[in-house]
Amino acid sequence: MLVLGIESSCDETAAAVTDGEARVLSSVVATQHDLHAEYGGVVPEIASRAHAERVLPVITKALEAAGLSPADLGAVAVGNRPGLIGSLLVGLSAGKALAWSLGVPFVGVDHVRAHLHACRLYEPGRGEADPGEIEWPALGLVVSGGHTSLYRMEHDRKVERIGATADDAVGEAFDKVASMLGLPQPGGPAVERVAGEDGADERAFDFPIGKAAHELGFSFSGLKTAVLYEVKGRPQPRKVPGKPEVRHEPAPELTPERVRDVAASFQRAAVRAVVKRLAKAVRLHPGYKTLVIGGGVSANRRLRAHAETFADEHAMALRLAPMRFCVDNAAMIAGFGAVRLEAGQRDELDLPALPTTAC
Ligand code: KG4
Ligand code: ZN
Repeated sequence: MLVLGIESSCDETAAAVTDGEARVLSSVVATQHDLHAEYGGVVPEIASRAHAERVLPVITKALEAAGLSPADLGAVAVGNRPGLIGSLLVGLSAGKALAWSLGVPFVGVDHVRAHLHACRLYEPGRGEADPGEIEWPALGLVVSGGHTSLYRMEHDRKVERIGATADDAVGEAFDKVASMLGLPQPGGPAVERVAGEDGADERAFDFPIGKAAHELGFSFSGLKTAVLYEVKGRPQPRKVPGKPEVRHEPAPELTPERVRDVAASFQRAAVRAVVKRLAKAVRLHPGYKTLVIGGGVSANRRLRAHAETFADEHAMALRLAPMRFCVDNAAMIAGFGAVRLEAGQRDELDLPALPTTAC
């Protein structure tokens, strides 16, 4: 059964067709990065307007790329949570209208769950082979711009969150650090690029790895602040009457060398923080057969390399999505939608858009 997936939770308008299992027939993503660049973050109103302009052309393009017409579709899956409400509503309305007019089943998909499913996807049109079923139970990690969470996955549809960030998501920290360093958004790829430049010293700064109160929690705000102080200088403490004034040196000039050293040291600390929590999760609950990682930050080569070493050391299989399915896309929505459909799950056309994840 051919499934159309639609994704519009943040600043990507995407549509994709899968074969009802993990094979991707087409995947189209229209990013809005240029529209939000001058504001240093996603502006919700601009995002929803752009989704409204693009959603139908993107769906048409995905069908054309797969050589299909709407009548060929067997079901429609739409990301309905979490995300910006105005943005979600655009994709959701388009998907409902299409499913209703075609008389085919409709399912809503949790975007975070879909990220955990992305490692199953493959596109024969790009020469990719079926990576096969996941061996359960799996330890799941979602690292994106909005989430940094760990999951115990008994199987595709039995997933329990066992840890989450107490403050920022790791992708958000990459984005903030990029803007401190005067690099473009989205910040993750930009930080990765300068951190990988010749001569970058990842040990130039000893940035802290945040400790969250929860044993499997994450915290990235302290790391972000440490980078801020290194870049902008520490704030001058207020003078306390009767005590000698404490002066701090202002931060040195932000030369290209310093930018790449800060970026490399930050990236090292961020990846170490993530891997440390994976180690803790495995210590607390041994027996995971697979490590599944999804979300935009799983496109980071350093994280991918360290995850590989970690999985090897713990005799776990590692499942990472192809790079283009790490960041937001609709193939993962169609893919996980198919899992729900296969289990007999359907949603009514009054399914709401929700800002929070269910998992
Ligand atoms: O999954 P995603 O596309 O959207 C959300 O669901 O949030 O993740 C976007 C996040 C952004 O913070 C972006 O900077 C980060 O993923 N990202 C990366 C890389 N590519 C994207 N972070 C580090 N290294 C990368 N190569
Ligand atoms: Zn995402």
